[in-house]
Amino acid sequence: MDIPQLHASLSVADKVVIITGGYGLIGRTIAEAFLQQGARVVIADIDASHHDTVQQQLAEHFAPDRFLLHHLDITNEASCRAVVEATVEKFRKLDVLINNAAIDAKFDKENTGKVNQSRFEHYPVDLLRKSVDVNLMGTVIMTQQACRQMLAQGQGNIINVASTYSMVAPNQSLYDFGQGVQQYKPIDYIASKSFIPNFTRYIATFYAQEGIRCNAIVPHAIFNNHSEAFLTNFSRLSPLGRMCEREELIGPFTFLASEASSYMTGSVLTVDGGWTAW
Ligand SMILES: NC(=O)c1ccc[n+]([C@@H]2O[C@H](COP(=O)([O-])OP(=O)(O)OC[C@H]3O[C@@H](n4cnc5c(N)ncnc54)[C@H](O)[C@@H]3O)[C@@H](O)[C@H]2O)c1
Repeated sequence: MDIPQLHASLSVADKVVIITGGYGLIGRTIAEAFLQQGARVVIADIDASHHDTVQQQLAEHFAPDRFLLHHLDITNEASCRAVVEATVEKFRKLDVLINNAAIDAKFDKENTGKVNQSRFEHYPVDLLRKSVDVNLMGTVIMTQQACRQMLAQGQGNIINVASTYSMVAPNQSLYDFGQGVQQYKPIDYIASKSFIPNFTRYIATFYAQEGIRCNAIVPHAIFNNHSEAFLTNFSRLSPLGRMCEREELIGPFTFLASEASSYMTGSVLTVDGGWTAW
């Protein structure tokens, strides 16, 4: 392969990509980066409150035939089917599904001095069920609908968004901010995201002979105006000593979505500043 061909294989130009959770921190970053690279992008999300702003901002930079904003609840089969149908109706195919939508329960900050609901022994199981419903069940339901279309086409590429908490336990000292205030990363996110790497391997091997690839990406700690106390704890525990800038995910997502990763399926690509390396 000569250099120009290698360059072409790293491209997502003309690919049709659905990004679930597309109004969120990572979803917006990847959607805009892919649009800038010439992809056609479907931004699908449950939170309709961002629709008008995103529509307006994207329309300033990209032609209306390049993108589609669509309401999506990944826990609802009809909703997932509708997004795939709208994608194929507008763009005639679906090349890449990015399973990015998820919920991440926030800390129960109000109760840290009383019964801390984020501690494992007190964690409300209803919240665990809710996270499993979205992060696990929703990912399965959305993937089923995309796979039907990809099978009909004879090709497809799925990128699942995992987490370092899919791979290792949280170091709870990250959430100890002194003065006797210890917060905890609760079990719901860890339980529901741990499923993603092995689901990736399941889909990769299930469809390996039918033209569908499936890989996972493992982001970690995207900077989003975190507190000084958090940044201090984080830099002490992270090998690279800093959080991830959202733009640092563009290369890894582009690689997995492009033909440059054509021999990769069932892989888990870690982008964590070394967090899981020690
Ligand atoms: N931000 C990080 O530091 C980080 C680190 C590791 C992994 N991740 C993973 O990256 C992905 C995106 O995270 P983010 O930080 O951008 O989160 P975010 O909360 O900013 O975005 C998630 C989006 O998913 C949407 N969503 C929630 N439930 C949905 C449903 N049922 N159907 C459709 N959409 C739904 C939300 O409305 C939101 O826009 C998640 O899978 C998360 O687990 C994030």
